[in-house]
Amino acid sequence: MKNPFIYGEVVTGKDFADREIELGEILRDLRDGQNIFLVSPRRYGKTSLIVNALEQLQKEGFYTAYIDLFKVSSFKSLLEQYTEAISRAAETKIDRFSRLIRDFFPNIHPKVVITPDGRPSIEIDYEVRERRAGKLFDEVYEAPQRIARKRSRNFIVAFDEFQEIVNLNGEMIEKGMRACLQHHDRVGYLFAGSRRHLIYDMISNKQRAFYNMGKIMSLGKIPSEEFKVFLEDKFLETEFSLEAGVLDEILDVTENYPYNVQFLCHELWNNCLDRRTVSVEEVTLTMNKILDGQSAVYVTLWNTLPLHQRRTLIAIASSGGENVFSRDFVRDNDLGAVSSVQTSINLLMKKEMIDKEDNNRYYIADVFFKKWIEKEMI
Ligand SMILES: Nc1ncnc2c1ncn2[C@@H]1O[C@H](COP(=O)(O)OP(=O)(O)OP(=O)(O)O)[C@@H](O)[C@H]1O
Ligand SMILES: [Mg+2]
Repeated sequence: MKNPFIYGEVVTGKDFADREIELGEILRDLRDGQNIFLVSPRRYGKTSLIVNALEQLQKEGFYTAYIDLFKVSSFKSLLEQYTEAISRAAETKIDRFSRLIRDFFPNIHPKVVITPDGRPSIEIDYEVRERRAGKLFDEVYEAPQRIARKRSRNFIVAFDEFQEIVNLNGEMIEKGMRACLQHHDRVGYLFAGSRRHLIYDMISNKQRAFYNMGKIMSLGKIPSEEFKVFLEDKFLETEFSLEAGVLDEILDVTENYPYNVQFLCHELWNNCLDRRTVSVEEVTLTMNKILDGQSAVYVTLWNTLPLHQRRTLIAIASSGGENVFSRDFVRDNDLGAVSSVQTSINLLMKKEMIDKEDNNRYYIADVFFKKWIEKEMI
């Protein structure tokens, strides 16, 4: 019997819990051509939500394209991946794929290559010169609107990890995109990202090209009650029984982070497979086992940090992360000067080891790392 808990990859269909309200809202907006900026901290389930939404929209007859900007390292690769995603959305038959490329991308001369798994992929085999790049990009940006109009079938385009655009001459790309996208009445765009302040700045700063380009949707954690129903079903379907309080304990120790909940449940399922019964005690044992397993990674991470950053992490883990720039916090945790705390916090934020809630509370981004710090360092 297969372990029903999946972590570290996109979850869809029956492996995807709840999110009904968010999914409903995204579907409505995208159908109407309303642009959305979907933001959340890492590993809350943005990509899974996007993929589920696109699957549904595709069933409804939309062309759907997905571009992950983490996989885009240069201008040229953005051009290739955008072209490929749009073309693949509009044409699945390989013989027609080349024709579509010729029709809708006449200037960029992409080459269609077949990947080892038999899928068509795009290569642009010349250097994109900066001067021509703007024009070439226009052709790519316009493609979904032109295809949609020609074929009377609307397009949905999703950019995941959109904040990464700033690493690729972002200003020029943003301006070019804005100029085209704002006229697209047959395309709904979704931009998702985990570096929230970068996205907020992009759309709330009047100087930026994306100012007011769409609405922000902030993805929270999955509500406990809904998550519990999902988890219980998975255990029961695989003939496990749960002692009272197990589900609460799981959500409690993982603080309800979707990724960590699934990680813990996956391990619990494996550990209890012979008895098919899960007790609260087993949750604690499994949690300790996970922390021991992760220990090598965490020790390495810890050793890369200067002493003050380590002390700041310990202080955030033990205090709850409120008012970290107050004199009391600095004194109680023996952190020297407020300015040193500011520096350490900035550096830890840059490394994405900590994050900040909208109410200014700081927290350790990986809840298992926090547990490890509590266990080993406090
Ligand atoms: N709706 C959901 N139902 C069940 N599990 C979920 C759900 N959303 C997220 N998860 C869990 O969280 C993990 C991470 O999800 P996903 O990759 O979609 O998040 P993300 O926000 O895109 O993460 P990242 O910041 O790393 O890109 C999944 O592998 C799964 O274990
Ligand atoms: Mg993601």
